[in-house]
Parts: sequence; C-alpha cells; structure tokens
Amino acid sequence: MKMGLKINGEFKEFDVDPSTTLLDLLREAGYMSVRRACDTGTCGVCTVLMDGKPVLSCAILALSADGHEITTVEGLKDDEDFQRLLDLFLSEGVDQCGYCNPGFLITAYAMKRELKNPTDEEIKMYLVGNLCRCSGYVGQMRALKKYLGVEE
Ligand code: FES
Ligand code: FES
Repeated sequence: MKMGLKINGEFKEFDVDPSTTLLDLLREAGYMSVRRACDTGTCGVCTVLMDGKPVLSCAILALSADGHEITTVEGLKDDEDFQRLLDLFLSEGVDQCGYCNPGFLITAYAMKRELKNPTDEEIKMYLVGNLCRCSGYVGQMRALKKYLGVEE
C-alpha cells in the first residue's frame, strides 16, 4: 500500500505491506540509528519522534504513521541543542556499549521540550520506557539534569 512520511524534513513515499512496522520501514530506508532489540514495545531502543513526541517505532504500523513527521537521530545531527546533549553524555561517562543511546537521547530531547524544571521523579517517569542494560542510570541522570538546567 502507498504511503508517505516526512522523515527528518524530507518527504518520502513508500509501498508497504500492511504488517510492516515503522521500525522496519525506517531501518530498510537506511535510518540505522533506529535500533531494534525487544521488538515488543518494552526496551525503548527504537524510539523516534512522531510529530515531536517520542513513540516506539516497533509498536506502530508504518501505515498508521502515514502523513506524519518522523525525526530520528540522523535528523538532529546539526541541531546545537542535541549536540550539547551528546556532549553531556560523553563528559558524564554515560556512553558504555551505546546501543540504547539513540532512543535515550531522542526521548531526552523531547522531554526538554515538554517538561519545565522537572523533578527527579518526573525525569524517571518520562524515561521509564528506555532501558539501558549497561548502567545504573546515575550517569544518565547527571547528564540529563545538566541538559535540562535542573538544579542539583
Ligand atoms: S525494539 Fe521497540 S521497544 Fe524494544
Ligand atoms: S549503554 Fe549499553 S545498553 Fe545502554
């Protein structure tokens, strides 16, 4: 079936099987920052922005995203605020295997636009769907609080 998406600012058309997920479509189209792990809507590594809000691309059929705007890490590479977030992850030693990072970073980027001066609990709740198998989340919290401008 024919469908169209605006991906990272560029309109693209696709011919998809109705069972294709948004994750399958994005990876097959070359957006390899969008990772796959659980494939069941549990781990968050496949998170992308749909119309500015984080969604789990493995849990959405591509056809239900028809006409929407999708943003992946590739689309934020020239965004200064996103680069600052990346730099904070590096300087706070968050990066370990890095597999969860794209989903985590996309979610954090959306959180900054949605929550103003969040508490620790609100930050944790926003990130509840993003799992990291390498870390205890302490480094992520340090980096995020700096990124969000939240006082220690
Ligand atoms: S691969 Fe989508 S939530 Fe895990
Ligand atoms: S850094 Fe390895 S899964 Fe998060």
